[in-house]
Amino acid sequence: MSDKVTAPRIRAMKGRERIVSITAYDAPMAKLADEAGVDFILVGDSVGDVVLGYPTTIPVTLEEILHHTRAVRRGVSRALLVADMPFGTYQPSVEVAMESAVALMKAGAEAVKVEGASESISHMVKAGIPVMGHVGLTPQSVFAFGGHKVQGKGGDADAILNAAQYVQEQGAFAVVLELVPAALAARITKCLDIPTIGIGAGVQCDGQIQVLHDVLGLSERVFKHAKPFMDGRGEVQKALKQYTDEVRKGSFPGESNSF
Ligand code: KIV
Repeated sequence: MSDKVTAPRIRAMKGRERIVSITAYDAPMAKLADEAGVDFILVGDSVGDVVLGYPTTIPVTLEEILHHTRAVRRGVSRALLVADMPFGTYQPSVEVAMESAVALMKAGAEAVKVEGASESISHMVKAGIPVMGHVGLTPQSVFAFGGHKVQGKGGDADAILNAAQYVQEQGAFAVVLELVPAALAARITKCLDIPTIGIGAGVQCDGQIQVLHDVLGLSERVFKHAKPFMDGRGEVQKALKQYTDEVRKGSFPGESNSF
């Protein structure tokens, strides 16, 4: 049996195995994540914040996600490759959503992810495109939320559950729950037949996703929902400082680096 992870396989992991996923934006990092055995890799629109220097995910364009999806495609062989649909590429109409999703699949994605209770999901699913949903804190609506705040702490808890159920009814194979209380995420996970993938949503979700730069300690901020598994910034700074010093001193390149 092939070890290749597919959308139906992620769907079937619910209640059997914890699903592991991470974002990636380039081929070498995607290859390392694939070799580590993650189940799916998301070319997230977080590329805007963590790679492209935008203040939010909102400026990210379809062309940018296509570019990074092609790069990640070249690094991944086993994991499922999911591409995020950026802000403005599915909200205007079902036609716009279909065109955007088709472009992402042609760039090498094997599934797409959309934020919120979007009616475009069922159309994409009917066209043979596996779709992942995303509810709770949906960063493309950051200005409507008034910041990156935990959602579902009060009267909006049922609305988040309803949105997750809607996404499932539309045919999504999984749904990301971002920044919602652990108890609510556990309740949603129980109610749904499709897997929930948490980020800042507690351990009771069917799987977890994290932003690569947070896990590697490369982000300037340490978020409560994340854990740096190494001191990436410190290690990179140390190496670049040493390189700078050695070039200045004339000790690099040495004989072993010369021809
Ligand atoms: O863009 C992203 O990285 C995401 C995940 C963190 C879920 O949407």
